[in-house]
Amino acid sequence: MESTPKSTVRTGIMDYSLTDLDRDSWQQLHTAPSQKDSYFKTFTMATTTPDGAPDARMVVLRQVDETSRTLWFHTDVRAQKVTHLHRNPQAVLLFWDEKEQVQLRCRVSTTIHTTDAMANEQWASTWEGSRKMYLSEHEPGSSQLEPYPGFPAYFGEKLPTRDESEAGRTNFAVVECRVLEMDYLHLSRAGQTRARFDYGGETVSRQWLAP
Ligand SMILES: Cc1cc2nc3c(=O)[nH]c(=O)nc-3n(C[C@H](O)[C@H](O)[C@H](O)COP(=O)(O)O)c2cc1C
Repeated sequence: MESTPKSTVRTGIMDYSLTDLDRDSWQQLHTAPSQKDSYFKTFTMATTTPDGAPDARMVVLRQVDETSRTLWFHTDVRAQKVTHLHRNPQAVLLFWDEKEQVQLRCRVSTTIHTTDAMANEQWASTWEGSRKMYLSEHEPGSSQLEPYPGFPAYFGEKLPTRDESEAGRTNFAVVECRVLEMDYLHLSRAGQTRARFDYGGETVSRQWLAP
């Protein structure tokens, strides 16, 4: 059972309850991968290096399941972020919708899929343009004597054929991010709105926060 907050907040012309904000945020995330102009299509993912230092980078949101509050993105299994996540699977995902003036900060627990059905399914639906980057002969972030395009140079601007792209499968990984907590922030001259949604317990706990 989920707690039903009684209070609402006035943001612009509409009144929102905490439950509305939580639901709308997930709805916005859910539709982002298929919407051409969604600001939530890409996001920043922050990890911790094995030395305990912070690190962050942009990634593309591939899929969202609102019910299990899970998000997925693709990466190269040899990437440094994968090393970070093997050591510490906790991460933070940061979304910013400039049009709606909404920031979502999600604390997540991650699982890396490389050879299972999830990875196979996502690979099957990945087009040749994306698959091209998984053909890289070099580990992402490795030092090179000259600029390296991220795939065998003979491809140039050409896409690999479906058959050629299959060589990238061994480098492909899907990162699953289960959201444990979401911090919502809406910027507005009429008053900012900040709330925290905690999904870690048996029931969802929702709380207004001072911006
Ligand atoms: C807009 C944008 C989208 C990106 N999407 C991805 C992505 O989906 N997966 C990925 O591994 N890297 C993506 N990158 C590259 C990463 O930001 C990063 O440079 C690279 O993955 C190496 O990161 P790492 O050394 O932390 O592993 C993207 C970069 C930009 C600018």
